[in-house]
Amino acid sequence: MMKRYPDAESGNKDHWDELAEVHMRSYNTAPLAEGGHVLDPIQMAELGDVTNKSLLHLQCHIGTDTLSWARLGAEVTGVDLSPVSVRKARELAALTGLRGRFIESSIYDLPEVLDEKFDIVYTSIGVLCWLSDLSEWARIVRRFLKPDGIFYIMESHPFLNVFDDETDGLSVMYPYFHSDDPRAWPGDYPDYSDGDYLVRNGSWEWTWSIADIVCAVADAGLKLNFFHEHNSIPWKALPCMVQDPSKRGWYRLPGDRDILPLTFSLRATAP
Ligand SMILES: C[S@@+](CC[C@H](N)C(=O)[O-])C[C@H]1O[C@@H](n2cnc3c(N)ncnc32)[C@H](O)[C@@H]1O
Repeated sequence: MMKRYPDAESGNKDHWDELAEVHMRSYNTAPLAEGGHVLDPIQMAELGDVTNKSLLHLQCHIGTDTLSWARLGAEVTGVDLSPVSVRKARELAALTGLRGRFIESSIYDLPEVLDEKFDIVYTSIGVLCWLSDLSEWARIVRRFLKPDGIFYIMESHPFLNVFDDETDGLSVMYPYFHSDDPRAWPGDYPDYSDGDYLVRNGSWEWTWSIADIVCAVADAGLKLNFFHEHNSIPWKALPCMVQDPSKRGWYRLPGDRDILPLTFSLRATAP
């Protein structure tokens, strides 16, 4: 039976409603307004040409990535739990003149509100920790794919979650392995995008191991095309990280400590 935690989901909705307002100011939306996009070259190369493809973006937040895929020619549909995120995504579409459909729904309720199949199901960076049941998530991904449709995810690497993100160094503090009950994070910490903003609403998060992720995708019947690990990440996830212009401004471990994967990407195909 599916594992769902209504209190955690409702708390996370408040958390993301709050942050959608903040991120509308702090995310780099200028390229979208100026005719460009905000996607990184690795994702673009790994997902391939999206021209005229239907693309479902799960957990789209304020729609910056969704509308970037629209700019590259995809017909996009974004889905997010947070009504404020969805509203901001629609505002961004109007502001940029890009076409996109945005739906307010938890992923777990999506089969009840959307009855279509897509060429691509896409999701990226900061998504899996909000999900209470990864097997059900993967089944839903497959349910929305056409035959031969592509699922693509780029995400922070679960191994990164073990480190204390308040001390300078690699100090192991949290378990790598999943547990059913979410970890509650009280508010009053700086937002990852606007460090001057203290987040008021706390959050509830789950950890998923690499094995959990790969097995969920495989068990849902998708065929793995590749699984890649990368040594940079788009935000300063640990105090010791440094920004690296040669890695498109993403962050990496300092000096010669380029020793751990910080993000991963996975592509799989529906039968
Ligand atoms: C880090 S953000 C999205 C990542 C995206 N790369 C970005 O930064 O714009 C995570 C998003 O997941 C959404 N979310 C959390 N739980 C969800 C769920 N069960 N169903 C759908 N969306 C969910 C949140 O509302 C939030 O907008």
